[in-house]
Amino acid sequence: MEVTTPRVHNLHHVEVFTPKPNESLDFFTRVLGLHETHREGQSVYLRGAGEWARYSTILTEGPEPGLGHMAWQVAEPDQVEGWARRMKDVGVEHKLESGGSRFAQGDTLSFTGPFGHRTELFYDFERYVPAEPSKLLSQPVKFPNPGIGAKRLDHLNITARNVDEARDWYTDVLGFKLREAARTPDGDIGVWMSVTSQVHDLAIMRDGLGERGRLHHIAYYLDTPETLLRAADTFVEEGTPIDAGPGKHGLTQAFFIYVFEPGGNRVELFSGGYPIHGPDWEPIIWDGAAIEKAIVWYGGQLPDTFFTVAT
Ligand SMILES: [Fe+2]
Repeated sequence: MEVTTPRVHNLHHVEVFTPKPNESLDFFTRVLGLHETHREGQSVYLRGAGEWARYSTILTEGPEPGLGHMAWQVAEPDQVEGWARRMKDVGVEHKLESGGSRFAQGDTLSFTGPFGHRTELFYDFERYVPAEPSKLLSQPVKFPNPGIGAKRLDHLNITARNVDEARDWYTDVLGFKLREAARTPDGDIGVWMSVTSQVHDLAIMRDGLGERGRLHHIAYYLDTPETLLRAADTFVEEGTPIDAGPGKHGLTQAFFIYVFEPGGNRVELFSGGYPIHGPDWEPIIWDGAAIEKAIVWYGGQLPDTFFTVAT
């Protein structure tokens, strides 16, 4: 059998730790509008109304907030093993487990990347079967928008002490494409990469405290910037701490608002962005005076905490 070159295909889910599981669950369900689909041990599994899988988000009780793991679907079933060989080649300790060892998920390769982030790669997952399917066949469920209507997990942003090294590892080893970067004479301070036609599935920013394995934020997609402005009203009403926004980044053309969920993890609501088609994309490099507009196109400056607080 011909073995295909392993390729990461898309972001599937993230697990975040929370020291306040009940409060976090209330926020992710009632406020953001995700739905609970499963409970196991100290974890609750959640999905957005626009998602076909049984979950995109796992909330797990833990002593500190932070990233449990990020999980990516690979392009072909045989590639889970292909990735195991690749990790061996590049000297990353890894574990291959057969399907069923994780809820609704097939054979899985897990490893901690060189920058300290636990990662899973798999192909098979169980799809969500709604009690009430929508007549709009391209939509997974009927009446899909409780809360602010967070539609689906969009991307995540992790931190690294040395962004240049992280950029090179994620592009050379995992096959991410660099889409945009904020570059200084001391190296990149942030990189935005994807394996899909989104402008980013994964961003890596310089860790303000020089630590390893931290999460800057997870981001959910909202249909329109107007929905995002209404979300801002909801956050104020709910007493949800807003870290930044609403505003627009030059980088990725993101309409954004960043808040802290009760467990302490930063969550972004995101709309906009732009699609990238074609294999010959030249990364957009923001440097010098352009970096200011890259960070905030409009909408007020980001607070200092944006560059230091990660979980
Ligand atoms: Fe983001």
